[in-house]
Amino acid sequence: MYNFNFCCPTRVIFGKNTIAELPKYIDRSEKVLMLYGGGSIKRNGVYDQVKKALEGYNLLEFGGIEPNPKYETCMQAVDLIKREGVTFLLAVGGGSTLDGTKFIAAAAKYEGENAYDDIMINGIEIKDALPLADIITLPATGSEMNNGAVVSRLATSEKLAFHSDKVFPKFSIIDPEVTYSLPLKQTINGIVDTFVHVMEQYCTYDVNAPLQDDWALGILRTLIKEAPKVLSNPNDYDTRANIFWCATCGLNNWISQGVPQDWATHMIGHELTAFYGIDHGQSLAIVQPRLLKNQKVTKSKKLAKLAREVFGFNEVVDLKAADLAIDAVEKFYNSIGMKTKLSDYEIDANEAAEKIRERFKARNVRLGEKGAIDAETAYNILKDC
Ligand code: NZQ
Ligand code: ZN
Repeated sequence: MYNFNFCCPTRVIFGKNTIAELPKYIDRSEKVLMLYGGGSIKRNGVYDQVKKALEGYNLLEFGGIEPNPKYETCMQAVDLIKREGVTFLLAVGGGSTLDGTKFIAAAAKYEGENAYDDIMINGIEIKDALPLADIITLPATGSEMNNGAVVSRLATSEKLAFHSDKVFPKFSIIDPEVTYSLPLKQTINGIVDTFVHVMEQYCTYDVNAPLQDDWALGILRTLIKEAPKVLSNPNDYDTRANIFWCATCGLNNWISQGVPQDWATHMIGHELTAFYGIDHGQSLAIVQPRLLKNQKVTKSKKLAKLAREVFGFNEVVDLKAADLAIDAVEKFYNSIGMKTKLSDYEIDANEAAEKIRERFKARNVRLGEKGAIDAETAYNILKDC
């Protein structure tokens, strides 16, 4: 196992009726800005619950943070914060609302000319950010318990990530009941996103860290068991709760301590979203099976373990078991209604492959746990998608 240094300062408040506990965790002297997305929280009652819990607080609102949050929109919130002297940010919504809020928290304290270039591209050290917390309404990103955020820039069709310990949420409220209102498509996106997060951290090469492996495979097993249940009975509390906790633990960095990580599927998927606007979960389901085939040899031990310990195959030859695992993953996605080919979205695979190859060439990109995926390899993977 490699050395590691782990800290997650986020308090997690999990369960039914937990939104009412908000006042315990936000000081009354704060000037609070509630940030939300396109209005789902107004339709499912979450907005009203927050307003009621924060009665008597100095509370402002900023709505309209879009899925795959846009830099241009985030900067409008930064203007409002500076104008009004906001001191605390409360994101209420999915991963996009929360990621946008993390960027806003950092940008509100940034002094330079171009926050996107400096924070997302040049990776400047973030010295300060406004304190933030969230009520997360979509199980997928794990953003509620990590220090990362993904923000897109409309003007340049870019979708990039940043990480900073300054943007860990102070607390995250997870009430699984708020997910009853999720559209089926978003429930499926979230399950696939979680599955791929775990794979990006598990499916590399063995460094003799069996506990991390078992935690990772445990999340995958739970997802495979719970996914069909949530589709047939979307208002079952226990199923929703189990899926949410899988999503949070899938990217709170617990399973990645001391082990190599991949993230190539995500990096290629982000480009598909940036160019073609497809959902994050959809992009991952398209890229991952082809990427695993391409990288099968170096990942064969972990794929074989996945085949045997999650999908129940008895195949003793690692490379053959690896093939079985990759097919089983794609079949699992298809079984819950997730499509896995670019043609399903009327996207031309050759065109996408060429566009992304050019972009990766310009950025001199090398992805994967061993840096084995360069622009040309990404092209070969995408051509087959
Ligand atoms: O905008 P509103 O009206 O709120 O509707 C949203 C949105 O349309 C809706 N929704 C959310 N919760 C709901 C709900 N509808 C009904 N009931 C609810 N309870 O769902 C739609 C999608 O929301 P979004 O926040 O975009 O989805 P998700 O949570 O999957 O976030 C995706 C974003 O997170 C990034 C992705 O790249 C993408 O930009 N990621 C962030 C990560 C992180 N911070 O660690 C890691 C991930 O790999 C990922 O890259
Ligand atoms: Zn993801």
